[in-house]
Amino acid sequence: HVRHIALIVGSLRRDSINRKVADYITGVAPQRWQISEIEIGDLPLYNQDLDAEPIEAYERVRGQIAAADVVLVVSPEHNRSVPAAVKNILDIASRPAGRGVWAGKKAAVVTASPGVYGGLSAGLHLRQILQALGVSVLVAPEVYLSRAFDALDEQGQLTDARALALLNRFVQALDAWLVD
Ligand code: FNR
Repeated sequence: HVRHIALIVGSLRRDSINRKVADYITGVAPQRWQISEIEIGDLPLYNQDLDAEPIEAYERVRGQIAAADVVLVVSPEHNRSVPAAVKNILDIASRPAGRGVWAGKKAAVVTASPGVYGGLSAGLHLRQILQALGVSVLVAPEVYLSRAFDALDEQGQLTDARALALLNRFVQALDAWLVD
């Protein structure tokens, strides 16, 4: 039956390589995946004062995460860690205390970077944060797509065979994990 995938793209920029990676995953996703993106670019910074009177934007993303079978995060690395926009939604959905929507969820993490480390540090931080929130994170394959601009052709399309093969393997592993 249908699997609800909530997609978070950690880059807000138009020509984002991570957006291209997310688009590729969406394109090859199994039929039973129903992917809906959680928009994070317009979310106000988490403010604990709003726990008492939550704003619509917070409630929207909390609801989207609560409804998902798995949260798929495709993200760049900013200064060796998780971009602020990604950390923000992790925090928003973890509160109000005792009513966070993360516990018991599944998540999967992909990072891409033009650098040689592929966003490794952000990917590991993200796993650590998710585990602290009670989320099970897909263990393998780990995807830290390094030198990601080299995986683009002249038209800016993601076409590098090794990158695509890794992403295909990731999609298969995630799908198999969602059977349980
Ligand atoms: C970066 N970038 C970067 N890359 C990396 O591999 N490790 C890092 O720590 C950082 N730090 C960093 C901080 C900030 C504020 C920016 C804007 C960028 C470079 C980053 O990988 C590059 O801009 C990617 O293109 C970002 O991914 P998108 O936007 O193309 O998906």
